[in-house]
Amino acid sequence: MKKLIAANWKMYKTPPQAMQTAHDLVNALKEKTFCDKEIVVFPPFTDIYAVVHATSGSGVKVGGQNCYPEIEGAFTGEISPSMLFSAGCSYVLAGHSERRRIFGEQNDFIAKKIASALQAKLSVVLCVGETLEEREAGYLEAVLKKQIEEGTSDAVPANPAMFSIAYEPVWAIGTGKVAGLPEIEEAHGIIRNILQNRFAESFAEMRILYGGSVKPENAGAIMKCANVDGLLVGGASLQAESFVQIICA
Ligand code: 13P
Repeated sequence: MKKLIAANWKMYKTPPQAMQTAHDLVNALKEKTFCDKEIVVFPPFTDIYAVVHATSGSGVKVGGQNCYPEIEGAFTGEISPSMLFSAGCSYVLAGHSERRRIFGEQNDFIAKKIASALQAKLSVVLCVGETLEEREAGYLEAVLKKQIEEGTSDAVPANPAMFSIAYEPVWAIGTGKVAGLPEIEEAHGIIRNILQNRFAESFAEMRILYGGSVKPENAGAIMKCANVDGLLVGGASLQAESFVQIICA
């Protein structure tokens, strides 16, 4: 299974800025002939066209940060999985903690998005993770189980390689506070067990990414942890140079 290193640009970059960073990324990766990882960039919707063109032929994939479960219709402001696919995306994020926290997204809605995205032939990265309060109260496993089981209640991915989990402890996102290696291994082990119970044989082919204050300095050690199959990088992916250092760590 190929490791997956993903850049979540969140609400950063205009189309010209996105195009420049994507070009820088592609050029930097050209020099790294030994890189056998799958690379995905999740830009804002308005940058997708520019990034798809800038990465064309490079092997770098593009994904949407969000989607709405319907194919089309009167849903002002929303984007469907098939629109993302048609725009050149092969991935979509679901259930990012910022969407859960700021936009009130619940597991049942996230499940609809995942089912619709898989139907549209997009690979899905389902983001899960506990708040500090939940961790301190001893609810880590219960939170992860609920988010994964309810988030996948509407669809079983036909191809396990097209479904990944990103473990992003809420307290480690954008805070500079990276989870310790034992905490990462513990959470990823719990997630692997949940996947095994939920998906039987195919669980081993589903990748589990870590996200939360990943930097060039800590990426290598995190990637060596058991059950870490990749990274979902926010802040440190905004500059091609630091993202490439993480890819090669
Ligand atoms: P940071 O890497 O900025 O902490 O963001 C992590 C994240 O939310 C990726 O989806």
